[in-house]
Amino acid sequence: MPLDIDRIRSQFPSLFVRDDGTPRVYFDNPGGTQVPRQVIDRTSEYFTRWNANSGGPFRTSTETDRVLEDAHRSMADLLGASSPDEIVFGQNMTSLTFAMSRTLGSRFRPGDRILVTRMDHDANVAPWLLLARDLGLEVDWLPFSTKTFRYETELLDDLVGERTVLAAVNHASNALGTINDVASIARHVHAVGGLVYVDSVQYVPHGVTDVRALDCDFLVCSAYKFFGPHQGILWGREELLGNLPAYKVRPASDDLPHRHETGTLSHEGMAGTAGAVDYLAWIGSEMAGAKGQGRRAAVVAAMAALAGYERILCRRLIDGLVRIPGLRIHGITDPDQVSDRVPTVVFDVEGHAASDLNRSLAREGIFAWDGNYYALEVMRTLGFEGQGGLLRIGLAHYNTAEEVDRLLDTLTRIVRG
Ligand SMILES: Cc1ncc(COP(=O)(O)O)c(C=O)c1O
Repeated sequence: MPLDIDRIRSQFPSLFVRDDGTPRVYFDNPGGTQVPRQVIDRTSEYFTRWNANSGGPFRTSTETDRVLEDAHRSMADLLGASSPDEIVFGQNMTSLTFAMSRTLGSRFRPGDRILVTRMDHDANVAPWLLLARDLGLEVDWLPFSTKTFRYETELLDDLVGERTVLAAVNHASNALGTINDVASIARHVHAVGGLVYVDSVQYVPHGVTDVRALDCDFLVCSAYKFFGPHQGILWGREELLGNLPAYKVRPASDDLPHRHETGTLSHEGMAGTAGAVDYLAWIGSEMAGAKGQGRRAAVVAAMAALAGYERILCRRLIDGLVRIPGLRIHGITDPDQVSDRVPTVVFDVEGHAASDLNRSLAREGIFAWDGNYYALEVMRTLGFEGQGGLLRIGLAHYNTAEEVDRLLDTLTRIVRG
């Protein structure tokens, strides 16, 4: 059953906005995706009909409770969680990670070791470095190869030892695009009794997420990267979330998942997040053969189909980029290995600052990103930190081959001056 990209695009009002007659091309997707009707409608419905605090006996409040419960169920389906109680909503991935690092810190002792990586966004590095500073923990770094753009996992035997209490690792890089073999890292870390905390912010929009298959202990993501509102979500193993001491106010519920959800949540954000999952399930049942099979099956079918389409676009993008004189991609370029990456492609062009190129693209209605996008250690490793970073083109499933070609033509013209 083929994907109907025109029908998919028709769900996103922002894809049809023009600036002075020029259609926009959204290639800033790793920074934040556009939202479909389902998200806009759910958010608007929440404000129009159900706006209230939770826990009261009156209609708006009972409906609010229903919306919040539905949001937890939706995210459990998207991530493959065993229970909605394993889903914690928070402001964003960064805030959730700071909070969870503090919560986990209560289990760690001076001299314990934590593993962080040079491929992660700083949101999965700095909170752990600060925890290490505060508690006197030792820090080990997992590097990546600048040839293969994959983790140097052969070092894990040396890096992971009996005092390793936690590894904070990246699922898909927001710079290199590499998809990492989290399950094999988890095997190493679990063998010594450590915990595995996975940043899946850049993977969830591009593939089937299955927390049980990854065999991690925590996984974090952000709805605004998978077609939803600005909202962070953490999944944690139920027994861990239930046993960890929560930093919470006394009257707040001790039950899961609320004990880790401090203060009043973004009800409208959670309503919209459920809308994003519904949108993906709609693709699964309408275009990926999963009609009537339940939301998890529909989401899985949708993500598999969308990933297949994105791989075709990604090959086209890379194939075109490597033909531009002086352009160097930092990431996997082998067409046979395209399933090992998300369609986020970074590059430099000899003689052109990334920011200049990006400004030129912006003038032509092509939205991209330049700099380090907080992938600090990636840029340091590649030698681009402090040098203006790299230009990043990040595709999503609502992009088209025509848009990729428009980028390639425009970039070629800009580079040739
Ligand atoms: C890989 C990765 N991790 C973490 C974050 C931070 O997410 P948030 O903005 O939800 O804190 C980002 C944001 O770009 C990201 O790309």
